[in-house]
Amino acid sequence: PTGTRYEAENATISQGVVESNHAGHSGTGFVNGDNVAGSYTEWTVTGTAGAATLRVRFANGTTVNRAAAIAVNGAAVVANQSFNGTGAWTTWATTTLPVTLNAGTNTVRITANTANGNPNLDYIEV
Ligand code: GCU
Ligand code: CA
Repeated sequence: PTGTRYEAENATISQGVVESNHAGHSGTGFVNGDNVAGSYTEWTVTGTAGAATLRVRFANGTTVNRAAAIAVNGAAVVANQSFNGTGAWTTWATTTLPVTLNAGTNTVRITANTANGNPNLDYIEV
């Protein structure tokens, strides 16, 4: 099971824009975050209490890791998640990590750790 998909273009964006100029994204687009540390995309997701799998679909057309902090409900889950180069902005990859959710509404935030910003973000599934 891949969980429920939440498109980045429907999420809350701090310092970034929705774009659609790189093929292969799901939905109507993806988030191109500003290339600054601290820019983030935050999703609101519905969960059941306990362990869950978070999948993040992204593209990074550079050769430099776009490391990010991943937080659930404001608490760090991974302080420095790697988002390595995918070869092209049109080549999308998925990274998977374990999270713990509350029953009902949860937030998932991906915040750029470096001045390179986040990778382009397509969706999360959880
Ligand atoms: C390019 C690319 C963007 C990407 C950006 C970046 O401008 O078209 O989609 O977000 O590089 O380096 O972050
Ligand atoms: Ca960007």
